[in-house]
Amino acid sequence: MADIKAEIRGLGKHIPERILTNSDLEKFLDTSDEWITTRTGIKQRRIAEEWEKASDIALPAAEEALSNAGISPKDIDAVIVATSTPDMTFPSTACFLADKLNCSKPMAFDLSAACSGFIYGLSMADAFIKSGQYKNILVVGTEVFSQIIDWNDRSTAVIFGDGAGAVVVSASEGDSDILSSVMKSDGSHWGSLYCPVGEKLRMRGRETFKLAIKSMETASKKALQKAGITLNDIKLVIPHQANIRIINALAERMDLPNEKVYSNIHIYGNTSAASIPIAFYDAWKEGKLDKGDYILLTAFGGGLTWGAIVLKF
Ligand code: COA
Repeated sequence: MADIKAEIRGLGKHIPERILTNSDLEKFLDTSDEWITTRTGIKQRRIAEEWEKASDIALPAAEEALSNAGISPKDIDAVIVATSTPDMTFPSTACFLADKLNCSKPMAFDLSAACSGFIYGLSMADAFIKSGQYKNILVVGTEVFSQIIDWNDRSTAVIFGDGAGAVVVSASEGDSDILSSVMKSDGSHWGSLYCPVGEKLRMRGRETFKLAIKSMETASKKALQKAGITLNDIKLVIPHQANIRIINALAERMDLPNEKVYSNIHIYGNTSAASIPIAFYDAWKEGKLDKGDYILLTAFGGGLTWGAIVLKF
């Protein structure tokens, strides 16, 4: 029997309707469009309504991923939701989502790895599929960071946004596959970016900035090495959308031309665990990806956590 491969079979995305621009922020914060644009690359972000929870915005993204994959919710064996803004402490957002989708009692759990959550989740889906345990897994990154932001803190309020992205990963005997993954953490730097239970997010921006570039570079190189390919083989690098300066610095250190690095941070800000699946979806919709292309995903976030995945689309 041929080796089992883990194929990205469908992608979906959902972003809340409400747009918060930099000029909107200027009205209640001591900041400016010029400062935010030059320091972060962000022009606007999406903000969920107060009643909208992580599972609410995940639902349309998951439905679209399932429909694009041509898979019924009944055939989903596992739902993995990466989020730092769950609906409740428990039950998991994944349980709510599986119920809203009308799945047939899949394994469902939330994964807490901050902005690296989607990379961790995709890697776990790959392992579950290659072990033969499951055939179809829904991996979702969904965040309502607007609900944990201190709207009086200009150093964090301008950075984050809400949104959700989803993929269906399926067992296949074709060519598409998740080729390698690297997942790391270092809890000693927890104070760079954190959110105590029931409180608001805190960040030491400068520290986070430096650690982000170095860790994504190291993880990306390691993942490429494990996959046995080089950057020249990669069609597109999709990094976590944390800050355009972080993305540009990463590209420079890795000697990557701009057109090989995807970014949509100007319209969505940093959507944490949702940023990579949203960017993946947008790149695909914009026609930047074809079946069979090699793609490198890399992320970094609170924990600290970081990682990278190389896949054949
Ligand atoms: N508008 C205007 N001024 C602001 C501001 C804002 N929104 N936020 C901070 N400032 C001010 C600071 O108060 C400081 O003023 P001071 O010099 O009078 O003390 C000045 O700008 C410089 O602050 P600093 O934090 O040193 O700026 P920076 O160049 O490091 O940029 C970040 C700040 C947050 C944009 C940058 O550090 C960053 O992007 N870090 C990574 C954040 C990130 O990606 N987090 C998520 C990781 S998953």
